[in-house]
Amino acid sequence: MTTAAHQVGRTQGKLHPEPRYRDPMTVSGAWARAARGAMLLADDGALRPTIFAEMTALAASTGAINLGQGFPDEDGPQQVRDAAKLAIDSGANQYPPGRGIPELREAIARHQHRFYGLELDADREVLVTAGATEAIAATLLGLLEPGDEVVTFEPFYDSYGAMIALAGGVHVTVPLRAPDFTPDLDELRDAVTSRTRIILINSPHNPTGTVLDRSTLELVVELAHQHDAIIVADEVYEHLTFDGVEHIPVSSLPGARERTVTISSGAKTFSLTGWKIGWLIAPRELVDAILSVKQFLTYVNGAPFQPAIALGLSFPDSFFADAASTLATKRDLLGAGLRRAGFEVSRPSGSYFILADAAPLGFDDAVEFCRRLPELAGVVGIPLTAFVRPERHAAFRSLVRFAFCKRTDVLERAAVQLADLRR
Ligand SMILES: Cc1ncc(COP(=O)(O)O)c(C=O)c1O
Repeated sequence: MTTAAHQVGRTQGKLHPEPRYRDPMTVSGAWARAARGAMLLADDGALRPTIFAEMTALAASTGAINLGQGFPDEDGPQQVRDAAKLAIDSGANQYPPGRGIPELREAIARHQHRFYGLELDADREVLVTAGATEAIAATLLGLLEPGDEVVTFEPFYDSYGAMIALAGGVHVTVPLRAPDFTPDLDELRDAVTSRTRIILINSPHNPTGTVLDRSTLELVVELAHQHDAIIVADEVYEHLTFDGVEHIPVSSLPGARERTVTISSGAKTFSLTGWKIGWLIAPRELVDAILSVKQFLTYVNGAPFQPAIALGLSFPDSFFADAASTLATKRDLLGAGLRRAGFEVSRPSGSYFILADAAPLGFDDAVEFCRRLPELAGVVGIPLTAFVRPERHAAFRSLVRFAFCKRTDVLERAAVQLADLRR
């Protein structure tokens, strides 16, 4: 029998011993399902870098303005940042409670009551998570059995595809097509069946900026009841709606609350995307089920950031209204620049994002166009097909997502540079 000890013995005394093991290592596992679900695994098994990584690297190497990634280039409110510093100095540096500190859970409950009239039990119906991302992950891992279907709109935020696949679920989509990117209600009706376990909606929607209207949300509730499905509502852009369009939390509709998990986060509302303080709100039995997974993902997170986000949630209504109107002005600034450059441009009712069709400029393939855009105009965007599965690419091929959550001077510069596309 050859053992490791024997091999050590035989190589002793040699200056450059032969490598002891030559066997290739197998890296199999659930990661491949997650990568495939997020459309990052090619048919030949090759793992592709995300288009976000590629475009961010391109922005860095060319000095182009990065309107690809959806994070603000200005930090959130000073008062909130100061509260986190104070919390560190006051000793909030050890594990916080598993469900989140009471102060934050109560602030989340008060916020839901103030804006949407919902009464919550802060002890049992609120769970603090490591960003909305962990809330999505724990919810899907906790509530799905292999083979269960999850219905989402498409394009979709990439973590949905990854986590549905990781949980062994089957991802069924309903397209949001140009020009208005709203769902066809008959297609939604057809997509939800007795196999559906979760209807996962995202409003305001990344990447289209669509804000779902009451009749669509009512249909979601009706279908969830008809097929005994759970509604998961990703509302991270809840305060960022424009032109008087109202964000309606689905859980505020009759019959929804008892079967809805609402997910949100401090990231977008307070321009603090790196803090990763998120939360979910659900009936207690759903919170308990999701908590049993969440406690083994991160257990807890962000002790000093939790009281700071609690402070932010207690800001007056004017803070939230100002955040939305400032962002609407930025949408208009970038939208006008894109239109002047020759794109056909969407008018998003919410979120950080605007869609521009490059076809009128003679570019049918947005992937190719985005790779050339830094050289053509010194700007970076993301092809919309990054949020769409290959079988639906055709309908979205020439569309580009641009983020307008950037400083006004940056957007002005981008608008001027985009005008070069006309020349
Ligand atoms: C629709 C959507 N959901 C969830 C998230 C993640 O939020 P968080 O940073 O709180 O994890 C994002 C961030 O881009 C998003 O766009």
